[in-house]
Amino acid sequence: MDKVVLVTGGSSGIGKAICTILAAKGFRVFGTSRNPKKVIDALPYELITLDVQDETSVKRGIDEVISKTGRIDVLVNNAGVGIMGSVEDCQDLETQEIFDINVFGVLRTTRHVLPYMRNQKNGLIINISSVAGHMGLPYRGVYSATKAAVHRLSEALRIEVAPFGIKACVIDPGDFATNISENRRVVSAVANNSVYSSETLRIEKMINEEIVHSSNPNLIGELVFNIINTKKPNVYYPIGKPLQKLALIVKRIVGSNIFERILKNNYKID
Ligand SMILES: NC(=O)c1ccc[n+]([C@@H]2O[C@H](COP(=O)([O-])OP(=O)(O)OC[C@H]3O[C@@H](n4cnc5c(N)ncnc54)[C@H](OP(=O)(O)O)[C@@H]3O)[C@@H](O)[C@H]2O)c1
Repeated sequence: MDKVVLVTGGSSGIGKAICTILAAKGFRVFGTSRNPKKVIDALPYELITLDVQDETSVKRGIDEVISKTGRIDVLVNNAGVGIMGSVEDCQDLETQEIFDINVFGVLRTTRHVLPYMRNQKNGLIINISSVAGHMGLPYRGVYSATKAAVHRLSEALRIEVAPFGIKACVIDPGDFATNISENRRVVSAVANNSVYSSETLRIEKMINEEIVHSSNPNLIGELVFNIINTKKPNVYYPIGKPLQKLALIVKRIVGSNIFERILKNNYKID
């Protein structure tokens, strides 16, 4: 039987590209959306209803895949959102919502899929984190923190599930041309003339322009295909423009103090 793949956030961007490429390679692919009806394109894979913020919805979505196929071979935890706002401006509810999607969402789906993978005695979990998880991006500190949390959780998970024949790894994209800018939250303080408003908006404009000219998410679909076919996946797979991948190496070599200067220079912050 063809391998069964479940990709959270299969309605747009990176998730849609992963689903489309894997479906073309012959996998039985299920993407998810909070509202599949809003997707009008004809997709070469099934789009099921699943909200990673809602435990009941996660269980129902995974039960649906199991009732149709009896197994899940690969889980790609991809659903996620960005947030713009200085660390001081982020209110608890705004921060909690992003952690709920980007971190607790990963935990919820993983927790519901693992019992099936343990019974199968195999499986692969790929968490889509971000290059941003390796550094505290100014005015995106909460986003960076969610992605760093995914890194630590994935490192631990990978060791814990290995005895059950289950593999886990992380993909760290740089900038990819998706709907991430349109879907990114901006904290309410920015519209209320916070002392950080103008800098937050300046940097938001800068990163949105970069996203438009960034990499094609199909590259991540191809990477997922290669990881599925790898016996021993790496812990981390950085992917994106060479400079973004290089940044991770540079940070390790020059250390945090010098790297901070490079970041400030990049964002034109005095
Ligand atoms: N694009 C980049 O440059 C970039 C870089 C690094 C990392 N990433 C990461 O890549 C992942 C995908 O982002 P993208 O760029 O493809 O963004 P996108 O085009 O905005 O897609 C986001 C996806 O997440 C889903 N989603 C959002 N909230 C959800 C929820 N509560 N429950 C279930 N699904 C939810 C959306 O589905 P519905 O709205 O249909 O529910 C949509 O399919 C994210 O984790 C993001 O942090 C992106």
